[in-house]
Amino acid sequence: MQIRPFRPGDEPALFAVFHSAVHGLASTNYTPEQIQAWAPQDLDRNIWGKRMQDIQPFVVEASDEIAAYADVQPSGYIDHFFVAAAYARRGVGSMLMAHIHIVAREQDIPALTSDVSRTAQPFFEKFDFVIVEQRLPVIRGVPIPNALMRKELTPLPSIERASPGKPGITSHVKR
Ligand SMILES: CC(C)(COP(=O)(O)OP(=O)(O)OC[C@H]1O[C@@H](n2cnc3c(N)ncnc32)[C@H](O)[C@@H]1OP(=O)(O)O)[C@@H](O)C(=O)NCCC(=O)NCCS
Repeated sequence: MQIRPFRPGDEPALFAVFHSAVHGLASTNYTPEQIQAWAPQDLDRNIWGKRMQDIQPFVVEASDEIAAYADVQPSGYIDHFFVAAAYARRGVGSMLMAHIHIVAREQDIPALTSDVSRTAQPFFEKFDFVIVEQRLPVIRGVPIPNALMRKELTPLPSIERASPGKPGITSHVKR
């Protein structure tokens, strides 16, 4: 598996990952009505595509398909974090989260935050995020509880930063 940046054309595969994660994994913690409202199969693909282009996620590629994706915004906000059901509990999410930490530290982002589903809260806790606030967003008319979680980041020691002309920490990521 390898992590690479988003590429135009990834949008349909990312929708498949999102749909699989919500219907195949988050369905343990939410009702069928909540799952349907969160990830409807007929979600407008133009709106979806624009969203992916806006958030520019990192993508985990398995041999011939995308297994997971997640983003980190310049503010430190993680907007999407989804692993396809077939790849769950195999360390894919951990690999992606480790990558996001490296990118955030390289960009001097002081803290990571996310609105985290009930399903993902134990995973985020494992990475030392703490719950700041319980939330109840309404998506397509249905309340879907989650929690704002946050993690303060320690800055990178200067020796680990890339010098001019030298490859950065994320240079292993194939573009
Ligand atoms: C949460 C999610 C991203 C985790 O991805 P993953 O690839 O399965 O995570 P990993 O295999 O790296 O798990 C690492 C550890 O996190 C914890 N963890 C992961 N999923 C868990 C779950 N469903 N319940 C409890 N702990 C969990 C475990 O401690 C796990 O270690 P273990 O497998 O050795 O016990 C994935 O389950 C997912 O996409 N969920 C549905 C969508 C979702 O809610 N996304 C987040 C929106 S904010």
